Amino acid sequence: MLGGTVPYFLTSRTIRSGLPPGPQMASTLQAVAWARRPLPFLERCQKHFGDTFTIRVKHAGTWVILADPEDVKKVFTADHAVLGVGLANSILGPLLGPRSVMLLEEPEHVRRRKLMLPPFHGERMKGYSEMMADVTRREMSGWPIGQPFELWPRMQEITLEAIMRVVFGPVETDRLRRLRHLLRKLTNWMNDPRRLNLLAAAGPARFAGNSDYREMMDPVEDAVLEEVRRRQRDPGCTDGTDIAAMLGEAYYEDGSPMTEQDLRDELVTLLTDGPTSSLLSWSFERLLRHPEKYARLRAEVKAGQDEAYLDAVVKETMRLCPAAPIVVRKLLAPMELGGYMIPAGTTVAPCVHLVHRREDIYPEPLRFRPERFLEQPAGTYTWIPFGGGVRRCLAASYAQLLMKQVMSTVVSEVELRPADPRSERARKSAIAFVPHRHARVIAKRRLKEDRR
Ligand code: HEM
Repeated sequence: MLGGTVPYFLTSRTIRSGLPPGPQMASTLQAVAWARRPLPFLERCQKHFGDTFTIRVKHAGTWVILADPEDVKKVFTADHAVLGVGLANSILGPLLGPRSVMLLEEPEHVRRRKLMLPPFHGERMKGYSEMMADVTRREMSGWPIGQPFELWPRMQEITLEAIMRVVFGPVETDRLRRLRHLLRKLTNWMNDPRRLNLLAAAGPARFAGNSDYREMMDPVEDAVLEEVRRRQRDPGCTDGTDIAAMLGEAYYEDGSPMTEQDLRDELVTLLTDGPTSSLLSWSFERLLRHPEKYARLRAEVKAGQDEAYLDAVVKETMRLCPAAPIVVRKLLAPMELGGYMIPAGTTVAPCVHLVHRREDIYPEPLRFRPERFLEQPAGTYTWIPFGGGVRRCLAASYAQLLMKQVMSTVVSEVELRPADPRSERARKSAIAFVPHRHARVIAKRRLKEDRR
């Protein structure tokens, strides 16, 4: 060092004003890159501009992307009065509705979150395990043996059935069968890549008014609300523990009930659980290409004691194939991030995808290696598939439990192999990224004889 004295300008980070650099392409072109192949787009930007960069996406706005865990921590631990919703301009706006907990601003957001949390925590969760395994077994009984098939739609069936039971209870009715059918239609319609292009071109506001979209969504809304009203009219029609009954009876702290719009948006938010089925598809897509890891998992499940490896597989899948590549917040006050004083009004986006691929945190980041989570615990600001802070996914425990129940049931009941030796790429669907061939597998045989 220069005579032992370090000049001030070398020790203290200079804070620049304005936004970090980013691609100079027109915002329409950036919107296309974002809509079509967001993951390579983010990777290219990081390579050129570093861990903090700005992208401009037509209809969605200007986003400052954050790939440094220190910045992620700052955002997730900031006073929630200085962070607003950043999501309103995404596909989630028209799908979830403006009164969804995901899109509410503070202080209303925290009040709603308190109402929603109980079914996804503590004692209530314990009761779901057997139901989840049961739903999986029932779905698996229809899987072909010796023929290739896509796992993603099968996983969608399982996650839809599980959340239907949590939201509406175990009693099956014709109305619920119809609602399930309507939800499937809506999800398939939304997952068509043409719809994503339409959304990118039209923007969420026009998309929400699109007549084809309304034709799919209106019957879902009507059916969901009818279920709540039925429970309000006749509380004896359920045991009162399902979420539809609970929210129909719920009151805010000031004594006011939830409005119809609140109920509609909240229930649609819960029922359109896209990420869990996509992650389940990825977990098999990855595991089946690593037979020794698959064998280790099966041995653990068969022994029936420790869930450590199963837990590590779930975590590694979420690290490598996160369902959401970014989470977003709107700054309501300036905040220093990545050496820039970012002005109020900017959307900042902790980048799950890039943080999860940092070599300094995850050596050989592209390798699927669940063992890394046996060697080091998942860090609060470096393993962020569920986001963080006051808006962290409120069903994170439920989703992980569901993944574990489905995986352990599948590996103990059927022997799978990939239908194609080539790995699958990530393709964008409406809510999450899915394997582009939808995780094609072949079930070799049922394993009844090996069962515990
Ligand atoms: C593995 C599956 C899942 C993943 C990876 C996932 C991921 C996420 C992410 C990234 C967020 C945003 C967090 C943030 O902004 O910091 C979120 C929020 C949320 N998720 Fe999930 N999610 C999953 C499953 C579910 C399920 C099954 C449900 C409900 C049945 C659900 C309900 C919600 C809700 C209501 C919020 C909003 C929380 C709030 O704003 O307070 N998620 N989730």
